[in-house]
Amino acid sequence: MSSEPVDLEEDLVNAPIGIFDSGFGGLTVAHAAVDLMPNEDIIYLGDTARAPYGEKHIAEVREYALQCLDRLDFHGVKALVIACNTASSAVLRDARERYRVPVIDVIMPAARRASLVTRNGRIGVICTEATARSRSYEDALAAVPGVHLTTRACPRFVDFVERGITGGPELEAVAREYLEPIRRAGCDTVILGCTHYPLLAGLISMTLGDEVTLVSSSEECARASYAVLTRRGVLHTGPREPSRYFLTTGNAEKFEMLGRRLMQGFVHDVHRVGMDETPAPLGDRAFVRTGERLPQH
Ligand code: DGL
Repeated sequence: MSSEPVDLEEDLVNAPIGIFDSGFGGLTVAHAAVDLMPNEDIIYLGDTARAPYGEKHIAEVREYALQCLDRLDFHGVKALVIACNTASSAVLRDARERYRVPVIDVIMPAARRASLVTRNGRIGVICTEATARSRSYEDALAAVPGVHLTTRACPRFVDFVERGITGGPELEAVAREYLEPIRRAGCDTVILGCTHYPLLAGLISMTLGDEVTLVSSSEECARASYAVLTRRGVLHTGPREPSRYFLTTGNAEKFEMLGRRLMQGFVHDVHRVGMDETPAPLGDRAFVRTGERLPQH
């Protein structure tokens, strides 16, 4: 294969999808996206050197997220997926203005699904502190009549998942405490508003009871991505052997180890990228955007 840069502006079907997260959690989105779109090339970028985002101020998250999205844009992606609730809260509108390709977030698709499936209008959202403070789910559901939202930040969940712990008495006690306000509010639908939480769906479901419907922001984001690519006529319908690149701003070995642990072999060939380094083409396909980016603000 040629290592010459390919003009992906001319060939959007063959361009990869760029998926960005603060770290590992967005792999739940990448995994769901691969299930629905197995023929797509994917470049995943996890900003693990600066994660977790959930404890940071939105302005700081915004700066980091735009750097990461710029990097994916450099590789000529045909869509940018913000696979992080905190980053989606911080940067969605800026990103939609900044890039020519469609930008898909995790919040709008999950909020929409929850508003469709709730029977009593009481929706709960569990998320990071930063997502809770940004009130992005409140905004996403503001126009839906008859919906009452209860938001609960569950900061310790991320740490448990990253240690590979998805059950046990300590985590069960934490879950009971975190989820009590959601239970008391009578929510019949709960949005897993953080990329790590789909990996705790068993625990959350057991704690809240089977009658509560869980909506995964990761799965909804993957479905929304499928719909956007199809509507734009750029979905790769295959069959073909796709390329997948995993980039991290942190330690590549640690990323690969955790990614493998959380995602059973889904993660391989992890490369470290420095945000202060000049980006280089990636692999055989030499993914590089040749067009200009829209003016920046
Ligand atoms: N990816 C983040 C989110 O979905 C959780 C991890 C973090 O705090 O960076 O909000």
